[in-house]
Amino acid sequence: MKKVSREFNIRGIKDLEQLKKVTNEFNIDYPVSEDVSILAEPVKLASGKVIPNSMGIHPLEGFDGTEEGAPSEYVFRRYERYARGGAGLIWYESISICEEGRCNPLQMIIKKETVPELKRLVDRSNAAAVEEFGRRPYNVLQLTHSGRRSVDKNWKSTPLAITENPYMDDHTSMDGQKGELQIATDEQIELIIQQFIDGAVLAAEAGFDSVDVKVCHEYILRELLSAFTRPGKFGGSFENRTRALFDIIHGIRKKLGNSIDICVRLNAYDCIPYPYGWGMVKEEGVMKPDLEEPIKLCRMLVEEGVDLINLSTMMPRYSPYGTGLLAEHNDEDIRPFTGVYNLLKATRDIKAAVPGGVFMCTGLTWLDRFGANVGAGGKKEGWWDIAGFGRQGFAYPDFARDILEKGKLDRNKVCITCDKCYDLIQIGHTRTGCVARDHEVYLPMYRQYVQNK
Ligand SMILES: Cc1cc2nc3c(=O)[nH]c(=O)nc-3n(C[C@H](O)[C@H](O)[C@H](O)COP(=O)(O)O)c2cc1C
Repeated sequence: MKKVSREFNIRGIKDLEQLKKVTNEFNIDYPVSEDVSILAEPVKLASGKVIPNSMGIHPLEGFDGTEEGAPSEYVFRRYERYARGGAGLIWYESISICEEGRCNPLQMIIKKETVPELKRLVDRSNAAAVEEFGRRPYNVLQLTHSGRRSVDKNWKSTPLAITENPYMDDHTSMDGQKGELQIATDEQIELIIQQFIDGAVLAAEAGFDSVDVKVCHEYILRELLSAFTRPGKFGGSFENRTRALFDIIHGIRKKLGNSIDICVRLNAYDCIPYPYGWGMVKEEGVMKPDLEEPIKLCRMLVEEGVDLINLSTMMPRYSPYGTGLLAEHNDEDIRPFTGVYNLLKATRDIKAAVPGGVFMCTGLTWLDRFGANVGAGGKKEGWWDIAGFGRQGFAYPDFARDILEKGKLDRNKVCITCDKCYDLIQIGHTRTGCVARDHEVYLPMYRQYVQNK
């Protein structure tokens, strides 16, 4: 496993002045604001719906649905905690559009049979928020097909890829297995497009405000964006590589009109060189982002009426580290604070080039309690509209309430980015959550499934 080499000790930094001084030594210049009250501002979307404040929780899969794909009690608990915590936007974790597209045997599946329980999940979480704040959050459901990261009921890797990819083919599941790669036919891609559309219809029945057509990390629609080497209607040109995404968006609009919003979680760049990565300079082997195509795509998405774009990069564990996935293939350590800065800057540059777009940023959990100040600073300076927090949601579900009521994050409650939530899945093959801050539930699992392994 790659070594994460932190450029500095963020927990030892006293205040914003020192943060500026220390980060500047690494050519990092995060936008910061002492006053975080801007994060209380509501955000109005193109659909007319309003997100009640400017803080969102990213999708974070707990790997803890039922075998049939419905939410379990762990899932109900997680979303109720989020709702009581005050974030204006809850981006529900990835849910598979079909049995074969799961990335773990307990990933939820959107199908007729799971809709009643999903509806109960949204209703319960909304009711909890209303009880606490007199209003409910804006709820997005992330639809996905895991593609080359798919596994069967026994965690055996069953990769369905769009192209061969020398940077990714040696590990086809998140626990590092190498399964036998199957390249999807155009007909299989067409079926997947239909399953996304059907999933959106079911998400509307379950009561979500919005669906996310997931085009990020290592999953299938992201892989289509980088299908430079694929022949046929889904590969090669920009138009072909984005065809599936727009077919899904048009299909959802045709079935549902404007009755459900559409959001997209998108990789700003892949951290995998051309011709195997998206958003990278078009020179083979060169590890440098080029935002021309991501900007073009975001402009088109906004023209299509996509309400919100959440920018990320590559696989969660390596996202948004500096050297990204490529770090697995060279000798460099992973440098998280530089990586976060690169991704936040890309968010700024994309937003600046896409008038009318509403954007959410990724990476703030790395910044410890200063995530609130950078979230607010970025919004103030126009880098993004919504400050997005991932693992902070597991560790500190009421982070938004503290930002709203106390004007800051609590040092003793923030995520310490120890990566144990990921160890629970990757090593333990079990459910996940915060081992350090939610230890009554997750420390026993960590001991049983990770330490005793
Ligand atoms: C345990 C775990 C599960 C995750 N599940 C998802 C997911 O379902 N969908 C997704 O888009 N990202 C997922 N991510 C990525 C996060 O949404 C987020 O992008 C990442 O953790 C970086 O943000 P942070 O530094 O605020 O945590 C997951 C990350 C972790 C650690």
